[in-house]
Amino acid sequence: MSQPTIESVLQERRLFEPSAEFSQAAHIKSLEEYKQIYDRAAADPAAFWADLADKELHWFEKWHTVLDWQPPSVKWFDGGKINISYNCLDRHLTTWRKNKAALIWEGENGDSRTLTYAQLHREVCQFANALKQLGIKKGDRVGIYMPMIPEAAIAMLACARIGAVHGVVFGGFSAEALRDRLVDAEAKLVITADGGWRKDVIVPLKDQVDKAIANGAVPSVTDVLVVKRTGQHIPMSAGRDHWWHDLQQGVSAKCEAEPMESEDMLFVLYTSGSTGKPKGVVHTTAGYNLYSHMTTKWIFDLKDTDVYWCTADVGWITGHSYIVYGPLSNGATTLMYEGAPRASNLGCFWDVIEKYQVTVFYTAPTAIRSFIKMGEHHPNTRDLTSLRLLGTVGEPINPEAWMWYHRVIGGSRCPIVDTWWQTETGGIMITALPGAIPTKPGSATLPFPGIIPDIVDLDGNPANDNEGGYLVVRHPWPGMMRTVYGDPERFRKSYWEHIPPKDGKYVYFAGDGARKDEDGYYWVMGRVDDVINVAGHRLGTMEIESALVSHPAVAEAAVVGKPDEVKGEDIFAFVILEGDRQPSEELAKELKKHVVSEIGAIARPSEIRFAEALPKTRSGKIMRRLLRSLASGQEITSDTSTLEDRSILDKLREGA
Ligand code: WT7
Repeated sequence: MSQPTIESVLQERRLFEPSAEFSQAAHIKSLEEYKQIYDRAAADPAAFWADLADKELHWFEKWHTVLDWQPPSVKWFDGGKINISYNCLDRHLTTWRKNKAALIWEGENGDSRTLTYAQLHREVCQFANALKQLGIKKGDRVGIYMPMIPEAAIAMLACARIGAVHGVVFGGFSAEALRDRLVDAEAKLVITADGGWRKDVIVPLKDQVDKAIANGAVPSVTDVLVVKRTGQHIPMSAGRDHWWHDLQQGVSAKCEAEPMESEDMLFVLYTSGSTGKPKGVVHTTAGYNLYSHMTTKWIFDLKDTDVYWCTADVGWITGHSYIVYGPLSNGATTLMYEGAPRASNLGCFWDVIEKYQVTVFYTAPTAIRSFIKMGEHHPNTRDLTSLRLLGTVGEPINPEAWMWYHRVIGGSRCPIVDTWWQTETGGIMITALPGAIPTKPGSATLPFPGIIPDIVDLDGNPANDNEGGYLVVRHPWPGMMRTVYGDPERFRKSYWEHIPPKDGKYVYFAGDGARKDEDGYYWVMGRVDDVINVAGHRLGTMEIESALVSHPAVAEAAVVGKPDEVKGEDIFAFVILEGDRQPSEELAKELKKHVVSEIGAIARPSEIRFAEALPKTRSGKIMRRLLRSLASGQEITSDTSTLEDRSILDKLREGA
């Protein structure tokens, strides 16, 4: 952490109340009702969650202990037996929802498919049996590297059904990034597809899997399960690779859900941290089920008449909690779209909303900023009147982008929920409840019931109103991560030690700077550690630096975020070459390509500046705040007294 003080410059005074009509029909109907629930939950969080767990979920066996908190290790609902696939599917089959649309899927190439709860249940059971046939057992890790097709959700639910731990890897990650994650998770099986459609081209997923596991690079992987999506020829390795449509033949569609212990691992999902390789964030069964369920219900205010669409990819936590588990656990209709706005159809999102009469729409600020750039013409030529509620996630939303979203997409009638959370939190933590909490553009507003956040300084002392500080959470919640896969020490260090415990009370450190205003509204400002947020995706500077240094021409590299209008931040890399190498345009291009092949296209540096040396403190720490100022072309006004060699700065500037 480099910032000694965190200053907020945003002064936003507009306030938007939900309409009386919206509030009356909402699950939580007024600010008073929210406050009542919030206060009751804060007085006894464990009792609050236990009550909901009892009312909202199906249990094979009830827990004996609601909360066992021995920081940083936590157990929720210990002694309970539950299965999230059962809660997402089976329990709806005994109701009228059996024949309700569970999953609506729209492919980028115009294919589409709708699965009812009964049909989705059948597919999941069959898939689960196929996994068993391949020798997958409870506790085994399964990699999922898929396009946005129904089989991605089916594979996740099938793993959960038999107690296998899924590790979804975003389909945009490179073979190298996939390999690292499969190795770390010791996956036995990889589920993939021949390819997926993305911006009118085929993403060759199976080829990437072949590359990732070639030459025994991932010894734990014995089988690859391939779904046919795009149909181009792909090599199949006999004995190792299996087509899903072949395996499916003659596989029974009966498969009971495995009763899981509350704290059995449900999935591992990798995310970037400020140091070293990506962390495998571990989530467990019961707490995650309850937390994704409750947040979906109250925040997206889901009713049986809703068609709910979250535009994330299942490769991110947003896809896990708010495309698959949360909506299905609630018996809602969730929409999955394979495509992205592309030159051949910039308005494709609005087509999807019109075609399926989407009522609740959840997307990212970076997407909204790109819609603004494309022009109002695209949404204005589609019928968006079905929409009743909008959401955003991923980074702070600029008030003007919020206003555009409200006016152009929401027709000035839809509340907006700006939802702050993280891979680690499992679900949304700070957000408006749309029928209850008036919104202020740019603020995530108030904490979800049962969540006790605060703003503190580095010693853990609470900040005053409107004073910037570090965002922390004071009490455990059911959806919180349990550990870093295979590295409990890293879990402790990354989240529980930055802010020292006071009177033995540990606080969760989120890594974000924020302030709380006089109404208790939270204004999140962004990361305070060495994490860059590019288009709502977290990238650790260390990972990109390591990728650069793995190129033979590079001796040292430092990467910083540079403000970007659409993406929020762009990647700016300072590179020191090995003695005999000369800077050139070609080399810069080659290095960018190298980062793409090491991590994936989302990590491509927008700019590479060759330098002779980097600004360092006398103790040898790279002074990133100086590099950040240089990257954004700002004058360096902050203190440079700890800099070892001041002439380095002038040279770096000349490089511009
Ligand atoms: C980081 C977490 C959680 C799903 C998407 C990203 C930033 C996320 C907001 C928001 C301000 C936000 C934070 C956070 N962030 N939502 N509404 N307002 N900042 O998940 O990759 O784990 O990233 O995204 O900086 O720490 P993630």
